[in-house]
Amino acid sequence: MKIAVFNGSPRNENTAAMIDAFRQGAQTAGHEVEVYHVGKMKINGCLACEYCHGKGEGKCIQKDDLEKIMPAYLECDMIVYASPIYYFAPTAQIEAAWQRVYCIGKPAKAAKAALLLSSGSGAYDAAIAQFKAFTAYTGIENAGVFTATGTENKSEAKLAEIKAFAEKL
Ligand SMILES: Cc1cc2nc3c(=O)[nH]c(=O)nc-3n(C[C@H](O)[C@H](O)[C@H](O)COP(=O)(O)O)c2cc1C
Repeated sequence: MKIAVFNGSPRNENTAAMIDAFRQGAQTAGHEVEVYHVGKMKINGCLACEYCHGKGEGKCIQKDDLEKIMPAYLECDMIVYASPIYYFAPTAQIEAAWQRVYCIGKPAKAAKAALLLSSGSGAYDAAIAQFKAFTAYTGIENAGVFTATGTENKSEAKLAEIKAFAEKL
């Protein structure tokens, strides 16, 4: 499978460690993994102008870093959203990347999705509810949700759990 991972952290720390473990496992299983560091990109919120659903024919009117992730939305067989929790929700950066798929409705080919979340002390309810609603709406299989809280971040046990999950994909 072609797997696209969106990293919503502006840093290269705890979420990145979860992604690395995922990548190692998925590559061992023979999958192709591309990580898109959306936390460092400039992706605006949707303008609700509906250009994409008219003249734009699936293309967004805004010229920003959405163009860097659109190939992933069009081509991946699996999508992984990975984010720290900021104020009880995924980061604003990943939300923008996530919501801007609106111009094509849903990832074009993805059959599976996973969610990786990192936090200091928890507060995953909103992020997990969003992910479950997204998978239900798109018909994409919810392949797994993984969280790393406080000292679980970068821990051998947590990274091994994520790697083992990816090895079985
Ligand atoms: C702006 C901001 C808001 C945060 N809000 C929460 C929160 O609501 N709950 C929580 O448990 N941790 C919160 N954290 C802590 C991060 O989720 C945690 O440090 C996470 O591991 C960071 O991941 P990263 O290293 O990939 O950036 C917040 C951190 C920042 C910078």
